[in-house]
Amino acid sequence: MPDKINKIAVLTSGGDSPGMNAALRAVVRTALYFGMDVFGIMRGYSGMLEDDIFEMDSKSVANIIQRGGTILKSARCKEFYTPEGRKKAYANLEKRGINGLIVIGGDGSFTGGMKLQSEFGLPVIGLPGTIDKDLFGTDFTIGFDTAVNTALEAIDKIRDTADAHDRLFIVEVMGRHTGYIALHSGIAAGAENILIPESATNIEDVIASLSEKEKRKKLVNIVVVAEGDAFGGANEVARIIKERIPGFDTKVSILGHIQRGGSPTCLDRLIASRMGYHAIEAFMNGISNVMVGIVNNKIEYTPLEIAIREKHTIDPDWLRIVKILAS
Ligand code: ADP
Ligand code: F6P
Repeated sequence: MPDKINKIAVLTSGGDSPGMNAALRAVVRTALYFGMDVFGIMRGYSGMLEDDIFEMDSKSVANIIQRGGTILKSARCKEFYTPEGRKKAYANLEKRGINGLIVIGGDGSFTGGMKLQSEFGLPVIGLPGTIDKDLFGTDFTIGFDTAVNTALEAIDKIRDTADAHDRLFIVEVMGRHTGYIALHSGIAAGAENILIPESATNIEDVIASLSEKEKRKKLVNIVVVAEGDAFGGANEVARIIKERIPGFDTKVSILGHIQRGGSPTCLDRLIASRMGYHAIEAFMNGISNVMVGIVNNKIEYTPLEIAIREKHTIDPDWLRIVKILAS
């Protein structure tokens, strides 16, 4: 760890999420406030490898707090998985005297950052930027609240048309390994069933509960499925339901990347701003190799490897609530 971190770089990597710009703004302005030089790296680790790095000032982050996406752009970079690729990338930081890196991204991006710290001694701080909320050590990730509200708004609209036509909709939301978007948006939209990777889907239970609803002429139903559910996505669930309960007029709606865009909510802008500030404060206090999170509304630093490895568990009460409220 260098005596004093005075030149930092920041990048956004992996799947983008609304609020990444707000986090960037906070990182850049806080670092400048404390007298550091700040460099922006374009397209995550790809830009680091290709030397697409530029010095940022306060104006570089003007008028972006309300914008989705990321002004630094994001990418996935295969070459960075190799030690040779990382050596080449680090050389581009070293030649500028950059002695601290802030990674805004998900678990994959954090893994890349951890390798830079272990292989070259570069202090790294992670900010949780992912709509999936699949990192341990924080109650919220930057972008989750916006994504879940986008999903909720869409499901509400789907319910209107479902109601007009007495239809059953299977709605697929994002979540490669986690069901948080499905669970939160599904409960808030009053979904009849929610299928998530964290709890084994018993399709017979789903069919039984829908058959019972069909018998009592409850024809308007919404099933929310996380894309990563082991049973399969919305198309697979719909195929089985059409076969087993042909009486339902079953439709599929896959929400997709709409959930990744849009202006960040107040909560996402707020947590991004707080986390960005505390990332710089951590460097000044000699802390690195951690993710900045917010737990019970307080800032917490969690070692990057724990943030990636440990998993949140879904409280079984939440799933019980779905069943009871949808009856
Ligand atoms: P996310 O950060 O959203 O989980 P990815 O898993 O796609 O996104 O990771 C983003 C990038 O981080 C990858 O394209 C790669 O450049 C880097 N990365 C991910 N995993 C590793 C790893 N094990 N070693 C080195 N770099 C990695
Ligand atoms: O990691 C966030 C996420 O939105 C996942 O839920 C989804 O599976 C994935 O990104 C899709 O990413 P892309 O289309 O960029 O490969």
